[in-house]
Amino acid sequence: MANLLINGAAYQVDAPDDMPLLWVLRDMLGLTGTKFGCGIAQCGACTVHVDGRPLRSCVLPVGSIGNRAVTTIEGVGATPAGEKIQKAWLDLEVIQCGYCQSGQIMSAAALLASTPHPEDSDIDAAMAGNICRCGTYVRIREAIHQAASDKA
Ligand code: FES
Ligand code: FES
Repeated sequence: MANLLINGAAYQVDAPDDMPLLWVLRDMLGLTGTKFGCGIAQCGACTVHVDGRPLRSCVLPVGSIGNRAVTTIEGVGATPAGEKIQKAWLDLEVIQCGYCQSGQIMSAAALLASTPHPEDSDIDAAMAGNICRCGTYVRIREAIHQAASDKA
């Protein structure tokens, strides 16, 4: 049994401690915005925030979370950085097929929250673990810069 705080709401789930958080989110709580890609922490599709840090939920045992706050793509728009990132994503039409984009947005929002005016090198470092088969990397970088600017 795990008690979880997700997007500001409390949940109690009957899950074994070693079950990945991604399984709990998608299969037990119906929060399917977070995607399964590789399952081995290599693609970033499953990225969520745990106390603001971007982590790969496919390899994060639910029993390790404790009372830390989880934010998913369903809730990140309620954070200042997440709101700016989502607006910039829409303005610049970043998304192609969309499969990787929940994870991209979660990593970008965490970057913007910790580094309000990131350089290209900051963006490259923060986003390196998020793979996009459609190759939206150039628009992602542009959208992060827009979100960091006064225009966002
Ligand atoms: S599904 Fe978690 S990193 Fe790929
Ligand atoms: S938008 Fe298709 S994989 Fe990234």
